[in-house]
Amino acid sequence: MKLHIDTDTKTLVQITAEGERSLSLYSVEAFDLVSDLWVKLGWNAKYSYTFSWLGRPLIQLPEDVMRIQEVIFKVKPDVIVETGVAHGGSLILYASLFEAMGTMGRVIGVDIEIRPHNRRAIEEHPLSKRIDLIEGSSTAAEIVAQVKERIPEGSKVLVILDSDHSKRHVADELNCYHDFVTIDSYIVATDGLMAMVSDVPRGNPEWIYDNPMAAAEEFAAKHANFVIEQPAWPFNESELGKNISHWPGAWLKRLE
Ligand SMILES: C[S@@+](CC[C@H](N)C(=O)[O-])C[C@H]1O[C@@H](n2cnc3c(N)ncnc32)[C@H](O)[C@@H]1O
Repeated sequence: MKLHIDTDTKTLVQITAEGERSLSLYSVEAFDLVSDLWVKLGWNAKYSYTFSWLGRPLIQLPEDVMRIQEVIFKVKPDVIVETGVAHGGSLILYASLFEAMGTMGRVIGVDIEIRPHNRRAIEEHPLSKRIDLIEGSSTAAEIVAQVKERIPEGSKVLVILDSDHSKRHVADELNCYHDFVTIDSYIVATDGLMAMVSDVPRGNPEWIYDNPMAAAEEFAAKHANFVIEQPAWPFNESELGKNISHWPGAWLKRLE
């Protein structure tokens, strides 16, 4: 695809194998095209590796942080389970939201390797009282059992999958964790963007089919009680409607 941007004539011309279309540079369509490209460039430049939350690095695009905040405030889960801890910034984010909302919410973080300096920093953080760390592969039966033990009966649960993003692993995680998710809450298969960044310098051609979005689609096709649905924006005084995100096709909502 070619994009020709002309700021003088205020047009954007998109050229693809199917043909050419000219758009007003200030149209929603042009904004979406430029945003998609910006997300690709940002992914390659590791833009999401430049942020921290209350002192801990979190590896997320800021818009995804805003959108998960909106969902957490709406759903008000009692427990958030996240696979993929890394430096712990996302666990601290969820804990800080529980603290700010004044709920009893707790966060369970699972990672195959919690490095000692990360564990220490998370355990010494003022919000650590809300966080349980479990070390091991997220799909190992004993690890899933440990997560289950920590979820009190009757809890409202949200699950975020942010560990190994191969289709196979995400599919296994969806099988292991979907039963924990409560009605009207979500299991979020993050980083579906891999499908769109297969052709960038840091990408991998296999990601076109080997990605979390593909796992989520197959899961939804087999589970009628889950639907892939971008959560509605609670506030929107624009004509925009599409998340600018590393998590396309990620939001699996439990219907019943
Ligand atoms: C993208 S990072 C997580 C980022 C973190 N959620 C954040 O927002 O800052 C992915 C993490 O998944 C972990 N991981 C990879 N394979 C895993 C597996 N099989 N089970 C659990 N964690 C795994 C890695 O060790 C790494 O820390």
